[in-house]
Amino acid sequence: MGMGKITAAITGVQGYLPEYVLTNEELSTMVDTNDEWITSRTGVKERHIMKNGASSDMASEAVKGLLKKTNTNPEDVDLVIVGTVTADHPFPSTSNILCDKTGMKNAWGFDLNAACSGFIYSLATASQFIETGKYKKVIVVGVDMMSSIIDYEDRTTCVIFGDGAGAVMLEPNEEGMGVQDFILRSDGSGVNFWVQPAGGSLNPPTIETVEKRQHFVKQEGKQVFKFAVTNMAGVSAEIMEKNNLSSDDVDWLVPHQANLRIIDATANRMGLPKEKVMINIQKYGNTTAGTLPLCLWDYENQLKKGDNLILSAFGGGFTWGAVYLKWAYDPK
Ligand code: UT7
Repeated sequence: MGMGKITAAITGVQGYLPEYVLTNEELSTMVDTNDEWITSRTGVKERHIMKNGASSDMASEAVKGLLKKTNTNPEDVDLVIVGTVTADHPFPSTSNILCDKTGMKNAWGFDLNAACSGFIYSLATASQFIETGKYKKVIVVGVDMMSSIIDYEDRTTCVIFGDGAGAVMLEPNEEGMGVQDFILRSDGSGVNFWVQPAGGSLNPPTIETVEKRQHFVKQEGKQVFKFAVTNMAGVSAEIMEKNNLSSDDVDWLVPHQANLRIIDATANRMGLPKEKVMINIQKYGNTTAGTLPLCLWDYENQLKKGDNLILSAFGGGFTWGAVYLKWAYDPK
């Protein structure tokens, strides 16, 4: 081993979208909405829906592809962190089930609950196990099956969300590639602006909680929007300043895909032109913890070794933050 500091580099990325595509047209037959409203207010055209199975099944597909692509023996993986708010069960963890389904017999792991910030919280956490020299292969998954907690009678939430999974491999790097810095924040006073009210210890499931539709996501869209614009743009600008990055130095913004207008506000604040912003919200909607790895997967062939990426997210709860990383490989 050389003398260089060990950094945690992404060495592969793979996504998975379930087959079924729910279009704005079909949604218009389910609730009082239309393609024009959804497109202009959110940027979403269609989203994928998991008809059979659970979050661990989507995650398994992404991970199997990732293992193959990176030529990794599943038994060599040390740790698996799964960002999700739609675990298969309250317990055991989705990570545990995922490891069994994919043959990662020597790995341990856990689920990390941070809503739309699930992937950046998980990536920052995972990077520490690599930087210390403790582990050689860590997988970070962002997965959500939002269709399992969305009320398809509530037009203010059902048009935004979709299902999907993405996974990255993290490995030690001694050329300075990979995670450079992160800023992570939370504010639990935002609990009621984006919440699944029932099913936990505060409001265990009862016939009444079901009748009141309290097992579905309740969102104060306007409030979340305001906080998201301020904080996602703010933390993205902050991580640039902290690392002395000008807008010319940043090659890509990898933003959480919640609303095209939040993405635009963030890019503007960072002084980035559209060409440097990863966008796939039109195809997948908001897949919560899935959005960032799905962006990396879609844009993988355009990324070059040494590119400076800023990943940023804002989510319910509230949770938000940004990760600055250097991409570690050229298109294969
Ligand atoms: O990632 C998790 C965190 N979530 C977010 O980041 C979401 C942040 N919030 C948003 O993206 C936006 O607030 C929404 C997309 C949820 C809503 O957009 P908005 O521009 O804030 O709309 P609004 O709530 O102010 O509603 C405007 C109008 C209302 O009608 P009136 O009162 O003006 O007559 C709504 O009832 O649009 C109506 N409306 C709809 N119309 C057609 C709300 N939803 C729909 C709909 N189709 N689906």
